[in-house]
Amino acid sequence: MVVLYDDQIIEREQARIDPEDRAYQFGDGVYEVIRVYYGQPFYMKEHLARLQRSATEIRMNLPYPLEQLEQRLLQLLQRSGLQEGNLYIQISRGTAPRNHAFPSNARPLTLAYTQPSPRPVKELSEGVSAITTEDIRWLRCDIKSLNLLGAVLAKQKAVDHGSKEAILVRDGIITEGSSTNIFIVKDGVLWTHPANHLILHGITRQITLQIADELQIPVKKQPFSKEELFTADECFLTSTTMEICPIIQIDGKPVKSGTPGPITRQLQQAFEKQIA
Ligand code: PDD
Repeated sequence: MVVLYDDQIIEREQARIDPEDRAYQFGDGVYEVIRVYYGQPFYMKEHLARLQRSATEIRMNLPYPLEQLEQRLLQLLQRSGLQEGNLYIQISRGTAPRNHAFPSNARPLTLAYTQPSPRPVKELSEGVSAITTEDIRWLRCDIKSLNLLGAVLAKQKAVDHGSKEAILVRDGIITEGSSTNIFIVKDGVLWTHPANHLILHGITRQITLQIADELQIPVKKQPFSKEELFTADECFLTSTTMEICPIIQIDGKPVKSGTPGPITRQLQQAFEKQIA
C-alpha cells in the first residue's frame, strides 16, 4: 500500500509517525474523506476547499499550496490503482515537544491513502435503522477536526443497538448524524439543519440541496425537533461514503410505513446519475 507522506508518495511501511505528533497527542489537525468512483475523485475541489477552511479555522497553515496537494492526491490515486473506495487525507499541526499552545516552528504533516470500499448498495436500497442520542460534541462542528471522540462514542452506541447511525440531539433539536447529515420530509418539504457551527457542512448535503432545487422540491434549512423527526413522512442521511441513504427505523420505531419514501428515492436516483 502506498501513502502520501508530506509531499512524497512512499510505501506504508516507510511512513513514520513521531510520538510527539500533535494529531496523535491532541487530535490537533483536520481531515477529509473523498469518494472515488471509476478511479475518479468525486467533488474533490469542494473537499479540498473545506480542508483549507478547516485548517484556517484552527489557525493552521497548509505545508504547501492546495494545488500541489491536489496533484499529489491524483498521483496517489493513480499509483494505488483504486477504482471504487475512499481517499482519506489528514493534516496534523506537526511534531513538537508536548505543550497545548501552538509550536512556533513545526511543519504540518500531510498523510493520505486510499481504501477500497464498495458502494453500500444493500443499505441504499433497503434503508437503515438509527438511534437518537445526545449531541455531546464541541461547538465548532463545522470544522472537520481529527478530534472525533463525541462522534466515536455516539456511533458505537448505535452499533451496540444494532443500528447504522446515531442521530444527534442538542437541546431537543436534531443537529446531524455522528458521521452524516440528516434530512426529513414533511408534507412534501425537505428539512435539514442550517449550515452553522453545530453541524459539518456536508458536501453530499450540498449536492442533495442542489438536486432538490433542480427537482423543485421545497427546502427548509431550519432546525427541527426530535418530535418532528418522529412524525416525519421520510428520513434519510447523507455522506460521502453513504451517499443518500434512507432511514427506515429510529429508536426501534418505523419511519412512517418503515420503507424508503418517494422523495428520498427521487433524490437517490438523481444522485446516482452524477456518479455514472
Ligand atoms: N463524515 N457530518 C459529520 C459529523 C461527518 O463526519 C460527515 C462526513 C458528514 C457528511 O459530510 P460529507 O457529505 O461531506 O461527507 C456530516 C466522513 C465521511 C467521515 O468522517 O468518514
